[in-house]
Amino acid sequence: MKVSLTGIKPSGTVHIGNYLGAIVPAIELARRFERSLYFIADEHALTSVEDPAKLHAQIYDLAATWLACGLDPERTFFYRQSAIPEVFELAWILGCVAPKGLLDRAHAYKAALAAGEAINVGVYTYPVLMAADILLFDTTVVPVGKDQKQHVEIARDVAEKFNRLYGDVLALPEPEIGDQSMTVPGLDGRKMSKSYDNVIPLWAPAAQRRKLVMRIKTNSQAPAEPKDTESSEIFQLYRLFATPQQTAQLERRYAAGIGWADAKTALADVMEERLAPLRARYEALRADEAALDRVLEQGAQRARAIARATLARVRAAVGIATPGASAAQRETAT
Ligand code: ADP
Ligand code: TRP
Repeated sequence: MKVSLTGIKPSGTVHIGNYLGAIVPAIELARRFERSLYFIADEHALTSVEDPAKLHAQIYDLAATWLACGLDPERTFFYRQSAIPEVFELAWILGCVAPKGLLDRAHAYKAALAAGEAINVGVYTYPVLMAADILLFDTTVVPVGKDQKQHVEIARDVAEKFNRLYGDVLALPEPEIGDQSMTVPGLDGRKMSKSYDNVIPLWAPAAQRRKLVMRIKTNSQAPAEPKDTESSEIFQLYRLFATPQQTAQLERRYAAGIGWADAKTALADVMEERLAPLRARYEALRADEAALDRVLEQGAQRARAIARATLARVRAAVGIATPGASAAQRETAT
């Protein structure tokens, strides 16, 4: 069976770069697999978030965001990492197999080291926990951004080592790197990113989004001059939200000499058209944390049935018995 799995860290404001570059393609991708799992990597977030109120809020922001954008919790396993205790036991077992040298070479750890940061052990063992997330579900494909590719490769290396030691127990995962051609530009023309402080938040109210759009950098061409579409961030953003007919029409207005203020108004309008219904859904979902808990808990229950079977298999392989495991395994095997 082809199984796709990916974790999303609850790490702050979601912007339209995340929406177009990660969320929409991920929801699309889920439809291609017999089994797909999306989970909130809340325990991973602890390596960097130390504010409990903030973490709590970000977890529900994220859950409501994915559901509002169309993730179907009936067809996808949608859960919190922290609700799957088997992940943490598997992480320990994998840690006993993973060579230390492999973790010493992890980019994120090396970058923190080079920056002279105070590094907690969680930062160091981060890839082992991630390997457990992945290997627990016999994952074959892990859709991630470029920055996470090495982590998936580490998971695969650990699985191979485990299998060499204990037999053919774990499925080998492969990263699937998202289409990098889709880079959403930010307010200053660079890639939209939290780290550049140039983002348009996905759930900004219409008035705030309009204000941000008005701040997008443009050149100093006069209103009547014909304008180039390729080099215009406004146009590039417009195209991502508009229908082909709307895009063709704006292209003609550029050729005829559109004023930048009018171009920005057109962009703000088309964004609002597409995002207003999503935002309404988001707000309704976000307002009911208990309902979000129920959705995530249901996902966790379904996921745990698989997790228990894998962990029993792993335990048996290393020589640790699980009482009643064979019965549980028979149940989930079908
Ligand atoms: P940020 O750069 O704001 O910190 P993240 O690194 O958390 O964003 O990215 C989360 C996901 O969103 C990744 O899959 C990444 O590829 C995608 N993403 C982020 N910014 C953009 C962008 N400007 N265009 C397209 N995709 C993006
Ligand atoms: N480390 C990933 C990130 O920072 C999140 C993550 C945790 C993940 N576990 C995972 C991604 C398992 C894919 C598979 O974005």
